[in-house]
Amino acid sequence: MKRVVAGFGIFSVLIFGCQTKPSQPPEAEIKKGYLVYKNNCSMCHWETVKPEQLRDIRKKVMRGERPPFGAPPMSEVSARVKKFYPTEEKFVAFVKDYITNPSKEKGVCLPMAYKIFGVMPPVGKNMSEDAKEAVAKWLYYRFNMSWEEFMKKHPH
Ligand code: HEC
Repeated sequence: MKRVVAGFGIFSVLIFGCQTKPSQPPEAEIKKGYLVYKNNCSMCHWETVKPEQLRDIRKKVMRGERPPFGAPPMSEVSARVKKFYPTEEKFVAFVKDYITNPSKEKGVCLPMAYKIFGVMPPVGKNMSEDAKEAVAKWLYYRFNMSWEEFMKKHPH
């Protein structure tokens, strides 16, 4: 009987000792990330876009006019990158690297984005590690639409 109890002790350490905490959005970091977005990204990336706005912009682009922004909106970027890098860890690592060393080969945007806007400049080169981490987390948690949902709502 003693052996059984001792055995259960080890067993419960194995089960309960290895549980990881459920991941919670880090609120303070996300707030900071929004400020980083405002200061470093918003001049090119709008935060969101309404489906009707995007429809009008698309018509203009088809006529050869320039869109009113210099990059896809962040709601779209977030959904798109999550399709390829779904976990927070992979998403954050991708974004931090991409903004520091962007290239068409690495990018996961629609081919249309590179045609219209070209490749993003390496804005992350002048940013601190903390700022990059915060803006990447903000981009991950700020939006929750899947790529499929985004395209259904904003066909283009
Ligand atoms: C000068 C304009 C400009 C600024 C400033 C800018 N971006 Fe971009 N970004 C772009 C363009 C253009 C694209 C689409 C082409 C590409 O992916 O390189 C893009 C694409 C992206 C992508 C998608 C990458 C991919 O191709 O898969 C991410 C993520 C991103 N930007 C994050 C950011 C963040 C975060 C900031 C601020 C720290 C930022 N960008 C600032 C122009 C900009």
